[in-house]
Formats: sequence, C-alpha cells, structure tokens
Amino acid sequence: MSDKTTKGRGSWGSRIGFMLAASGSAIGLGNLWKFPYITYKFGAGAFVLVYLFCIALVGLPIMIAETMIGRRAGLNPVGAFKKLAPSKLWVAVGGLGVVCGFVLLSYYSVVAGWAIEYTVKSVRHDFSNHEKITDKEIGAHLFSEYTKTPKSKFDPIRAGYGNELATISFYDLKDDKKKKAFRAGLAKAWAAFEKGKPEAFAKLKTNTIGSLLDAFQRGDGYAERKLRMQRTLWVASLFGQFVKNPAKVIGWHLLFMTLTMLIVVGGVSAGIERASKILMPTLFVMLIYLVIRALGFQSAGESLAMVFRPNFHALTGEAVLEALGHSFFTLSLGMGAMLTYGSYLSKDASLTRASLVITALDTLIALMATIIIFCAIHAFKMPVSDGGVSNLFRAIPAMFQETPGGNWLTLMFYLLVAFAALTSTISLLEVVVSYFIDERGWSRKKATLLMGTAIAVLGIPSALSLNAWSNFKPLFGKTVFDFFDYTVSNWFLPLGGLFVALFVGWVLPEKDKRDELEGLNKLAFSAWHFAIRFVAPTAVGGVFVWLIYKSIVD
Ligand code: TRP
Repeated sequence: MSDKTTKGRGSWGSRIGFMLAASGSAIGLGNLWKFPYITYKFGAGAFVLVYLFCIALVGLPIMIAETMIGRRAGLNPVGAFKKLAPSKLWVAVGGLGVVCGFVLLSYYSVVAGWAIEYTVKSVRHDFSNHEKITDKEIGAHLFSEYTKTPKSKFDPIRAGYGNELATISFYDLKDDKKKKAFRAGLAKAWAAFEKGKPEAFAKLKTNTIGSLLDAFQRGDGYAERKLRMQRTLWVASLFGQFVKNPAKVIGWHLLFMTLTMLIVVGGVSAGIERASKILMPTLFVMLIYLVIRALGFQSAGESLAMVFRPNFHALTGEAVLEALGHSFFTLSLGMGAMLTYGSYLSKDASLTRASLVITALDTLIALMATIIIFCAIHAFKMPVSDGGVSNLFRAIPAMFQETPGGNWLTLMFYLLVAFAALTSTISLLEVVVSYFIDERGWSRKKATLLMGTAIAVLGIPSALSLNAWSNFKPLFGKTVFDFFDYTVSNWFLPLGGLFVALFVGWVLPEKDKRDELEGLNKLAFSAWHFAIRFVAPTAVGGVFVWLIYKSIVD
C-alpha cells in the first residue's frame, strides 16, 4: 500500500478478490427481485435499453468516481471527504452515506431473512403440501379473481392463470341468458355493497362461488387445473402465513444479521474476500443452471420475446426515472459502499477495468434473473403480480413444483437469493464498521458487534411492518419498511451519487484523477470526465426536479 493511512486497515488479498466482493455487493435482491419486475412493468425491451444507457452513462462513471475517492484517501466515506475535500460540507456527504448504510441494511436484512425461511421450507418440502387447499378455497379464489379482472384491459400476463380460469369458468356458462343474469346480478350486488349493504353481496357471493366452482369442475382437464390451482394457492398462503408471523420474520432477520457480522468481523481479506470467493462462483453456477432449465421450457422463445421486445408505449417518463434510480441501487452506489471497498484496493489495480467488470456482471445477472423468472412464470401461466416480492416468493416455488426435481431447484434458487443478499449485506455493514474503525479508533470486533446489533434492532420495526404494525403508518402514510426504502433508494442514494459526481468532476484536482486512472487512454479519460462532470449531474439533477415536482403535485 502506498498510502500510509491504509496501514492496519486491511486490504484485498488479490484483485480478483476485490472484484468478486464488489460484484457481490452490487449483485443482490435488486437484481433478482426488483429488476425483473420493473422490466416487465415498464415496457420490457425498451426499458432494458434505457437501463443500459443509464448504467453506461451514469452508473459506470460514478462507480469509477466512488472507488477513486476511496482509493485516493484510503479511508471510510467520512474520513475520505475529510482528507480530500476543501470544505466541511463534503464531509456531510460521507456522513450521509454511513447513515444510509445503517438504515438500508436494517430493512434489506429483513427481506434477506425471507430467503432463509424459504431455503428451510424447500428442505422440508413444504411446497408440496398443496392438497391442503380445498375446493371451497378454490371457489373463493376464482370469485375474487373474477371480480378483480379488469374488463377493459386485457394484459396477457396479469390476466394470468387465476384470472384466466375465472374468465373461462364464466364463459363456460354456455347459455347467454345465464351469463347476462350472472353479470347483472354481480353489478347489482356491487352497487348494493358500495352503498353499504354487504348482505346483498354476501348472498350473491355464495351463489357465485358455487357457480364458478361448478363451471371449473365441469371444464376440461379438471384434475390438472385443480392441481395447478392448489399449488398456486398453497404457495401463496404459505407466503401470507409466513410474513404475518412476526417471530419468524424477526428471527430470520436476526440470523441474517448474525451471519453478516460473522463475516465482517473476520476482516477484509479473511472475512469478506474469502466469503465472496466461495459465494460468488457458487451463485454464478447456480444461475447458469437455472437459466438453462428456464430456456428449456417450451414457451421460452415466446417468453423472451415478451420480456425483451421493446414496447415503447410503456416507456413513460416514470420508467426512465425508475431505470436511473435503479442503476444506483443495483450498483451499490451513492452511499459509500464502493468507496469503502475501493479504499482497500492497491494502487496497481485499474479502477476502470474493475468498474467495467463489476458493472457488466451486475447487468448480466439482472438479465439472467429476468430470463429465469419470466420463462418460468410464463410457462406456468402465473400472474405477474404488482409486487416483485410475489414473483420471488410465490411464483418461483409454485412453478418449480411442476418441474422434475422441483424441490431441488427451489432449494437452489433460495440459496442463491440468500448468497446474493449476504454478499450485499456484508458490504453495507462494512461501510459503517470502517467508519468506526477509522474515525473513532474502535477495534473491528467492537465496531462490528455494536453496530451490527444496533442495525439488527433498527430492523425490527421494518420486520413488523408486514404484520403486527402493518397498519401503523407513522411516516408520511407509509409503513416503517416502505418509508426507509422510499427515502433511501429514491432520495439519498441518487443524492449521494450526485455529490460524488460533483466532487470528482469539479473539486478533485485533475492531477489526482489522472494519477488514479493512470494507463487509461486519453479518449477514454475524456469520455469519463465528460460523463462525470456533465452527464451524471444533469441526469440525477433531472430526477430530483421530477421527484420534487411529483411530491408537490401529489
Ligand atoms: N446493490 C444491492 C442490490 O442490488 C443493494 C444495495 C444498494 C447495496 N446499495 C447498496 C448493497 C450498498 C450494498 C451496499 O441488491
């Protein structure tokens, strides 16, 4: 290490170790859970294109800038700005990063904990107990899907399995008169219901459920359709039961925090690097295997077309903002994680090459996850629900139940989710820990133990947001979980990224930048410099203007 401040803080044992750890930070729930879902929501192929632009023009340049600050200073986010920046104001940017890491980790670990529950469920073959779903429950489900089906809009995926069945059952009522009566009765009941007369509805409800179920039972391939229905409903009910159980959700969250702490306490190379060297290659292998399986479904070609064919109509301004915002989240930018990892990097490693590899891997894995999830969901005609959570925790186990070796695939999938999340949580904790080591002179042990515990405790309200506290919305009408996620991902990460871009673009001396990017050719340097000075700040500034405008209008 050429910089004296880096002594005693630890450093990466190898360049590949750094790359795996940083990719591990970037690749996480954002890739497996959020990306596939927003891709579908915002016009598929067209969204992917915009996203690639955001990654290349904003994400990548900021990643280079963040790792640059870290390596130049050889310190945590606060220390780095203290050392490199002329004014105290910049130190606040570092401070904000550490606080963001603290908060982000607290709720991220809650969702990460779900992956452990699902790994355990896979081992116990819980997903196979679909016979527990009775005909009556199927009827009730058909009814609710039926009433929810939007009559005007037909969306092939959203009007997926459940809706389709309900609609088919309805059309199974061959007699036009009966159909009319059915619909008229329903409309009347709705009207009465909305006027505060639920009795009218309740009466109809029983009849309707009965007739839907009747039609369902009379239709072709009843046994098969029933089996699939049972599986879907069973898996959905498992998810519902689980998230409604505070003790379990909190328990797994605490376990996940413990695992994270166990790795971070081991230090940079013996803890984080070693864990990443095992977890990341395993994750790649599992993903590749799952992609191959997913592409093996008969409908794969069609599914790919559906996800990747550009639909420029769905590409709204909101979609562009979502793409930009997500590029920060998915690359772990804007809160000093890459800065901290960069601070353990030796001078001879190329920042541009490392950033390119990390960015490319992150993007590749997001696309692979999208392929797996969409081919699978499409093959099994599962509805793509409004939240990505459902894809990950409902659709996946239900559909794997229909494939040979499904229990193994499910187990593999949730292990993969857990691994991806773990390599992200360790980098989040490391930001906080490195601050207390560098700035407060704490030992790694003390910093990890105290801060890890504090974060674990802070996560408890987020864990309760889905059950005991689901109606407790103290913060701007949002649950604690939603509030944390909204403020951190939508505001603070882009804000942090904006300041990093401004700092490296306009404050850091040109000489330092050239020194850090030594070996990079002139053209590439100028391109990066232009992106970091103009493109990135304009793009992120645009997002803020829009966000502020929206929050005033709403
Ligand atoms: N990149 C992670 C993901 O895609 C999430 C994340 C955002 C993150 N910011 C971070 C992880 C900072 C570690 C550090 O899931």
